[in-house]
Amino acid sequence: ESDLSAIMVIFGGTGDLTNRKLMPALYNLVLDKLLPEHFAVVAVGRRDKTREEYLNDIYASINKFSRNKIDDSIWLQLKEKIHYYQFDFTEMNGYTGLNEFLNSLDKKAHTGGNRVFYLAVAPEYFETIVQGLQNSNMAKKQGSWSRLIIEKPFGKDLITARNLNNKLLEVFEESSIYRIDHYLGKEMIQNIMVLRFCNSIFESIWNNKFIDNIQISLTEKLGVGTRGGYYEHSGAMRDMIQNHIIQILSLVAMEPPINLKTDSIRTEKQKVLEAIEDITPEFLKNNVVFGQYGPGIIDGNPVPGYREELNVPKDSSTETFVALKLHINNFRWAGTPFYIRTGKRLGKSSAEIVVQFKDLPNILYFKDQEIQEPNLLVLRIQPNVGVFFQFNTKDFSTHNGIVPTKMDTSSFSPTQGNTPEAYERLIYDILRGDATLFSRWDEVEAAWMIADRLIQYREQKRSQFPNYDAGTMGPIRAFELLAKDGRKWWHV
Ligand code: BG6
Repeated sequence: ESDLSAIMVIFGGTGDLTNRKLMPALYNLVLDKLLPEHFAVVAVGRRDKTREEYLNDIYASINKFSRNKIDDSIWLQLKEKIHYYQFDFTEMNGYTGLNEFLNSLDKKAHTGGNRVFYLAVAPEYFETIVQGLQNSNMAKKQGSWSRLIIEKPFGKDLITARNLNNKLLEVFEESSIYRIDHYLGKEMIQNIMVLRFCNSIFESIWNNKFIDNIQISLTEKLGVGTRGGYYEHSGAMRDMIQNHIIQILSLVAMEPPINLKTDSIRTEKQKVLEAIEDITPEFLKNNVVFGQYGPGIIDGNPVPGYREELNVPKDSSTETFVALKLHINNFRWAGTPFYIRTGKRLGKSSAEIVVQFKDLPNILYFKDQEIQEPNLLVLRIQPNVGVFFQFNTKDFSTHNGIVPTKMDTSSFSPTQGNTPEAYERLIYDILRGDATLFSRWDEVEAAWMIADRLIQYREQKRSQFPNYDAGTMGPIRAFELLAKDGRKWWHV
């Protein structure tokens, strides 16, 4: 195991991500006794604040966003590790000062020169900061390690992602770049590989011979809230499909890796993306549905449509919903479609993977009007976490009825939403130097190739928006997408 001692430098130290996720996650790591003894956090911010003022802000945030009420003895341990360093990271000459500050802190905190540079800033600043780190020789040093943590969005299309990546690679090695996808920090996402590769009953039937179709649904009741400015240029495709959905898809569909090493796993994930059927406009014509929410009712309260949200133009053509059918053209999956769906302001908030197994011939049972309920395996990611399984049994209350029996090991988990917990795991892995739960460049590149096709198609298509009411499960066409294949979206 590598030396965990380090200084974590957070660019964007007064920002939303730091307050909501990173600091609460660090607090939880102290609580769980996982933070190394020799560790310090340097929050970089433009604002003029004393360390005391900064610590007060952070205390309030942790209280608000952490899973438990703050425990002052834990806070005391974290607090002494946190420093505030005021400078404007667009000023190139400020980096030398930061470097000196970090070097002197190394001596006090015994952090050995190791660095985590966390870019919790808007993406347009990624290159500037990396340039600053290079100019001041902070990126690579003899005898210690430096890691760069990049939040999404990683580029806004394939070209910009490539350019950004090339810039990063001039300064950091690929193995030192950690591209965050917080879904990979969620328990059930990590459980996909365990369920598949530790259970003979699942792995032996995990293919097109037994599986009729697989559905991946990430639905949210939330609207874009105050993030209209960002979302308007992102849409569901860049916000959810390019990253979270594609990551889940590759974990569900990949071949068993030859071992559990980071690169072995990433290689298998990447191969799935390469096998996805060419997403031509011709193909998309019948296989994709875009949506944008109009006004509606969520939890009994009226909510505005997307076009009425803050910083969204009245004629916006940004999609807040996507449903898509994909084919993975390899030996395991040819003929078994994957249906994916994501959207904002839908009737329920949940993230699930539904595996529908093939029906048996209706020769003995299910002959007349009876409908054969299929075997379903549902991996519940959130808000419930666990596994649901449906199979047919005799109905004890009648002579010859058959009923689906539902086994559900899942339970409600308040910690699986967009909470600090995923970050807790991810930050710990960064310190340990384990990049398994982060995306390698070729995965990101393959994901952009898919997302770009979709984005281009949507741009020329100009759907009639809005086309679904807030509080429903999306546009009618998203239901037709499955109905025309004789299937339906499962909610079990
Ligand atoms: C983020 C998106 O990556 O994921 C948000 O930018 C979205 O728009 C969020 O709400 C969903 O994450 P979670 O963890 O709440 O499912």
